[in-house]
Amino acid sequence: MPLTDTPAAPTAFTRDPLWWRSAVIYQVYVRSFADSDGDGTGDLRGVRSRLGYLQELGVDALWFNPWYPSPLADGGYDVADYRGIHPAFGTLADAEELIAEAAARGIRTIIDVVPNHVSSEHRWFREALAAGPGSPERERFWFHPGKGPNGDEMPTNWVSNFQGDTWTRTTNPDGTPGEWYLHLFAPEQPDLNWNHPEVRAEHEDILRFWFDRGVAGVRIDSAGLLIKDPALPEVPAEPGPGEHPTEDRDEVHEVYRAWRRVADSYEGTRVLVGEVWVPDASRFAAYLRPDEMHTAFNFDFMTRPWRADELRASIDLMLAAHAPVGAPSTWVLSNHDVTRPVTRYGRDDSGFAFAKKRFGTPTDLELGTRRARAAALLAAALPGSLYVYQGDELGLPEVELPREVLEDPMHFRSGGVDPGRDGCRVPLPWRGTATPFGFSPDGVRPVASAAPAAPWLPQPAEWAALTVQAQEADPGSMLWLYRQALRIRKRERSLGDGPMTWMPSEPGVLAFSRGDDVVCVTNLGEEPIALPEHDRILLSSAPLVGGLLAHDSTAWLHRTA
Ligand code: NOJ
Ligand code: MG
Repeated sequence: MPLTDTPAAPTAFTRDPLWWRSAVIYQVYVRSFADSDGDGTGDLRGVRSRLGYLQELGVDALWFNPWYPSPLADGGYDVADYRGIHPAFGTLADAEELIAEAAARGIRTIIDVVPNHVSSEHRWFREALAAGPGSPERERFWFHPGKGPNGDEMPTNWVSNFQGDTWTRTTNPDGTPGEWYLHLFAPEQPDLNWNHPEVRAEHEDILRFWFDRGVAGVRIDSAGLLIKDPALPEVPAEPGPGEHPTEDRDEVHEVYRAWRRVADSYEGTRVLVGEVWVPDASRFAAYLRPDEMHTAFNFDFMTRPWRADELRASIDLMLAAHAPVGAPSTWVLSNHDVTRPVTRYGRDDSGFAFAKKRFGTPTDLELGTRRARAAALLAAALPGSLYVYQGDELGLPEVELPREVLEDPMHFRSGGVDPGRDGCRVPLPWRGTATPFGFSPDGVRPVASAAPAAPWLPQPAEWAALTVQAQEADPGSMLWLYRQALRIRKRERSLGDGPMTWMPSEPGVLAFSRGDDVVCVTNLGEEPIALPEHDRILLSSAPLVGGLLAHDSTAWLHRTA
């Protein structure tokens, strides 16, 4: 029988080409998700063993933080080999099996690519150091002679995103002081020169390498920083649009147009998701023009304090910015870089700013948890895609870790003032009443003679109450709230991508409708409020009190069209 007329059966990729516009994407910080071999470090087999949990949670895709070979000077954002897997996490075969098993459960895989910089252990950087000044190997980076008579002053005074200097001096092969190289982050993360054709070709090839292995998209690290002004000027006091020497330069868009052509050459929709920290909303949205990225993280919403006027202004700002380019917004409450929501929202200053992180900030975790529940339903009801950082579905707080276990360069480069980002990266609690709470298997030793290794960051004893096992048994838990919310979000066609309309409400309240039949109301005020007309309550973040929605809570309502 001739089969030529039979349309190809839809594959996991060709099914639902617009999946990314409404998707719920769960962020897996591999090192802290689940450890299969008892070495205290999460790994890919650990993730595979928990795919059932992720499916039950109801997520559409997983975004993995960098899983490549790396000295972990910045938690893996210092990549030594973009085509491999960190040996502590597993092998390339493990990654391929994980991608395939997740796909079989209807879950797509997004990986992290880090184009702005490489690890100082990357082959290119070692070759550049060895080859010396003036060599073609150095042209892939930003090597530059120092200023001053002896060349011992930095080429510029640009300040690092991790605080401190952005240039480090090298030593020549003969031992004399040599050129300086640029690193917008830590010295172990030398910046690539994106004017170099080999840098561009290499990254397009890395995309193909992973798309060929079935990944459905890439999260692009530090996406606005790739292009530098080759004249190396100082940062102007008030840079106009595109005038900053290292941020959001107009030429960067050509890089993503080229990446989009690569992504579009694959079946299904392979998405580009940008990490774009650009404060101007229209400059931000320019990355989402139809021939560039599909989406980018909406950080504006995440950094706002828990106040109705602030959140409403952010929602309006971001929806208005996205509209002209036709891209959906994303909604993000946290990630591996920021203070956990239950902690943030339990503080006097409930906004987020890197520069303001301090040890010992007073926190009301009960209030923070109540608000984080309300925020979760608010974010999940807004139009577009939703990101969930691992552990937020358990309501884990930020952990104030003892200084001696901290690893984050942000802590060290602040002179010890900033606690850094390790406090949101503590290994997850799965079950039981004592650490490692099922993160590592009971009694498994990495080497036959060794004791089971402790989790790479210590888990607080109080997490016994926050394990998956404990929460599964408690319908009032954060985990139940997330499971129900994601189930309803999938079922109610008005949620996810699509229009929203503000409804009249009193000050301190956010109320909007999605389609004809779903309404979301968040009460950020102090007094209980009456709910708008509805025929049933789909879900609420806190029990209603006498039919009223109490302070710091969200309800999803159904109304007859
Ligand atoms: C953003 C990542 O999210 C963060 O963890 C990392 O330190 C920097 N980019 C540098 O790669
Ligand atoms: Mg392990």
